[in-house]
Amino acid sequence: MKASFFFMFLISSVVLLAQDLPCDSTIARIIQPITQADTITSSDTLYMSSLVSGTPVLVQSTVAICFENGFEVAASVSFEANIDGCLTDFSMENIFGGNIDLDNLENYANQPVPNYINEDNTDGNPITDIGATLGRVLFYDKNLSVNNTIACASCHLQEFGFSDTRVASVGVDGATGRHSMRLINSRFAEEERFFWDERAATLEDQATQPIQDHIEMGFSGNDGAPDLDSLIRKMNQLEYYPVLLTDAFGDAIITETRMQQAIAQFVRSIQSFDSKFDVGFDIVRSQGGNNQLGSNFPNYTDSENRGKALYLTNPNNQNGQRVSGGLGCNRCHGAPEFDIDDNSDNNGVIGVIGDANATDLTNTRSPSLRDLFDGNGNLNGPSMHDGSLTTITAIIDHYNVIEVNTNLDNRLRGGPGGGQNNGQRLNITAQERIDLEAFLKTLTGSDVYTNDKWSDPFIN
Ligand code: HEC
Ligand code: HEC
Repeated sequence: MKASFFFMFLISSVVLLAQDLPCDSTIARIIQPITQADTITSSDTLYMSSLVSGTPVLVQSTVAICFENGFEVAASVSFEANIDGCLTDFSMENIFGGNIDLDNLENYANQPVPNYINEDNTDGNPITDIGATLGRVLFYDKNLSVNNTIACASCHLQEFGFSDTRVASVGVDGATGRHSMRLINSRFAEEERFFWDERAATLEDQATQPIQDHIEMGFSGNDGAPDLDSLIRKMNQLEYYPVLLTDAFGDAIITETRMQQAIAQFVRSIQSFDSKFDVGFDIVRSQGGNNQLGSNFPNYTDSENRGKALYLTNPNNQNGQRVSGGLGCNRCHGAPEFDIDDNSDNNGVIGVIGDANATDLTNTRSPSLRDLFDGNGNLNGPSMHDGSLTTITAIIDHYNVIEVNTNLDNRLRGGPGGGQNNGQRLNITAQERIDLEAFLKTLTGSDVYTNDKWSDPFIN
């Protein structure tokens, strides 16, 4: 349906017209700043909301256009608009329902962070509500893959702590070479490099790599595959991006840097601090005194407190065998963030998915051990870069008897006979296994699995 409308912007007279028009502020968020008489075509993304003050303006039409608060314009601007029925076709509400309300954004920027959390890799890209909202849309948008089937969220599922229960995740062109990683508290990590092998220098650097990975989302630019510029052209056709970009950055121009900033803001916003551990730590901190982390938590069972002590304390060895003390986990997965020590080498897990004979010694990063388990006590997917450890028993067995490799962390050496060439022997007892597992389960939160602000905003 083609219609030709004559728009008249006459601030004084329009007020009267406005009352008769069905006015829904989601109907039209109009593109390109309109500063002079102009011809608008259906391919334009109209964005006027910050440009024109107060009043819906329309002549000879059934289409309502709402102008939100803005600054003054010249008293009279008129132009002709050839619109191919496009204004009514697009509304944020048609795409997001009530999931995104630009006038009432979710809180991402000012979420409470416990004051015992010291790590923060935000650097020059602080979270804003609109930036993280744009990041959320990008994170869930399958249009960011070459065949419209895969989004970040296909491999990072909220219900599993933003990881995947599959050993290898499925991308546009096959399976990933490593297991997906939980995205819990990525912001609060001493190690600022990302991926298991730390190949991304920052979270911003990481953010567009999956999009450009030929297996994951496919805009690699290699072997005839489209590149990031063609993705940006594609995104310009999706009407919600100009709107979101304009709100986030002041204009509608899509760039890789802006995508990185928005996605990184959303990922950094994913935080989990409502675990049983946090409740207990809060209590002992409010009581004052030294070694609050090591004190028994009053909200813990005896087993959980014993598990905590095992986790936090280093082993005492004789002749390379642990004879007393703890299990030394905290040396590398330091409480209260439970993030990985940035000096860690590998932990003896050196497998490669799908190739029993290959080894990979390069993996030295781990996600936070928070939310390793879900709220029902099940692992949020298999563990380690190769997804090889599928039960807590297997994880404990691994650390109990470590096999040496050339890039093994020194803290995991010194086994029987001592020295660098022997892996640790923890001699973990049956009771200690129960206690360690009980403690690790206290690191699981609940809000991060259910809060809508991290959920899929698309209604289709
Ligand atoms: C096809 C599955 C898949 C898709 C799609 C995917 N990821 Fe991942 N993601 C993974 C895998 C697998 C890893 C671990 C890869 C590695 O270390 O080599 C990972 C790692 C990460 C990490 C590193 C976490 C850490 O603690 O180091 C972040 C952050 C991340 N992904 C965010 C994203 C974002 C943002 C997107 C979308 C732009 C995305 N992922 C798309 C599978 C996927
Ligand atoms: C020397 C440092 C070091 C010590 C000590 C250590 N870890 Fe790790 N841990 C790592 C590294 C590095 C990884 C990532 C390994 C990989 O996938 O290649 C890891 C991975 C893990 C994972 C998998 C996380 C995931 O998301 O898949 C778990 C679980 C874990 N460690 C538990 C423990 C426990 C429990 C202890 C104590 C018994 C412990 N670690 C001691 C360095 C260490």
